[in-house]
Amino acid sequence: MSKKHTILVTGGAGFIGSHLVRLFVNKYPDYHIVNLDKLTYAGNLANLKDVEKSENYTFVKGCINDAPFLEKLFSDYDFDGVVHLAAESHVDRSISDPMSFINTNIVGTVNLLNAARGAWGDFKDKLFYHVSTDEVYGSLGDTGFFVETTPYDPRSPYSASKASSDHLVRAYHHTYGMPMVISNCSNNYGSYQFPEKLLPLFINNIKNKKALPVYGDGKYTRDWLWVNDHASAIDVIYHKGKNGETYNIGGNNEWKNIDLIHKLCDIMDELLERPMGSSRNLIAFVKDRPGHDRRYAIDATKLKEELGWEPSIQSEEGLRKTAEWYLANEEWMTNITSGAYKQYYEDMYADRV
Ligand code: NAD
Ligand code: DAU
Repeated sequence: MSKKHTILVTGGAGFIGSHLVRLFVNKYPDYHIVNLDKLTYAGNLANLKDVEKSENYTFVKGCINDAPFLEKLFSDYDFDGVVHLAAESHVDRSISDPMSFINTNIVGTVNLLNAARGAWGDFKDKLFYHVSTDEVYGSLGDTGFFVETTPYDPRSPYSASKASSDHLVRAYHHTYGMPMVISNCSNNYGSYQFPEKLLPLFINNIKNKKALPVYGDGKYTRDWLWVNDHASAIDVIYHKGKNGETYNIGGNNEWKNIDLIHKLCDIMDELLERPMGSSRNLIAFVKDRPGHDRRYAIDATKLKEELGWEPSIQSEEGLRKTAEWYLANEEWMTNITSGAYKQYYEDMYADRV
């Protein structure tokens, strides 16, 4: 019997990783999906309850900064591909604690590249897929879009660490011949996101009638992509992307923060059957994020024209689905904001308003 195609997904217990693991486990019963995750505050096995017993799925707890452990993992499993998502992902935390971002996002990525290089010999039929962010390109003015050739200009410790990891993946491709693809994606939203990021934080605060801390003037702009669409884009790029290429992934869905927040407030008023406008009353403009990037916008034409991928849903539908999911999954939210997680939730939110 031939060996199953075996993929190592790192960070698979996190927000995007859990959606990707679920997609791969369900869509490819003939593959073996190995999920390596350290289970930091952002990693949560409850995100994968529905697939944890699947025959083609294995969870391994471990850290990408443990090089001997990675070496053994690569010899235990004959991986055909790696999809690397494990990272410290929250910009505000990178401002208060840059070092953990350097360790995980830069050093951890090199550890993984070394383990793959050590195990993969002539690299035949292998692929290292590095999942990255549009933040590596810096900040835009009122017009224009990031394309794959936009020069890198990262401006937060988070984006600088991700840019550095992108450069290292490309360096391993050019120097050693490591087969690789990189994708740079815009802001994701959807189910299972830790409530430190804008949307789940605000949904939870609205539900609990707590203030909504809007940074600065609220006119910062992001391009929002439904997380399931990010997972489907990764699927397409993993299977059809060209070795050595970079693909931008975006939702073609730009919102100024304050407009998105108003829309969310109105949807929440409807869902919670509160008088229209009551959630908007919770908005509090607070001190800005230091170095806050003004605008991100992605041009995902290459991915559409070369690989045929497009987002499946647009913002309003996605926002409503997301709000409904968090309201219906109260237990998930309670667990993630209590016990061992409590401090991580509160230290991001404390003293904001
Ligand atoms: P997340 O913070 O929700 O999850 C990160 C996961 O990585 C967690 O499960 C955590 O336990 C794991 N992890 C952290 N350090 C680890 C280590 N040392 N060893 C093993 N596992 C470790 O992040 P996310 O939002 O799902 O982002 C996933 C990836 O996608 C990241 O690389 C991020 O830079 C990138 N990305 C995120 C977005 C977004 O909007 N969230 C957009 C574009 C790109
Ligand atoms: O663009 C892709 C990036 O999107 C990813 O690489 C990051 O991992 C991901 O965290 C996200 O980064 P942002 O900083 O854009 O996401 P965040 O949800 O933290 O913030 C979205 C916007 O909302 C941003 O302009 C800051 C603002 N904001 C955020 C929070 C948490 C507020 O105004 N108030 C808040 O409380």
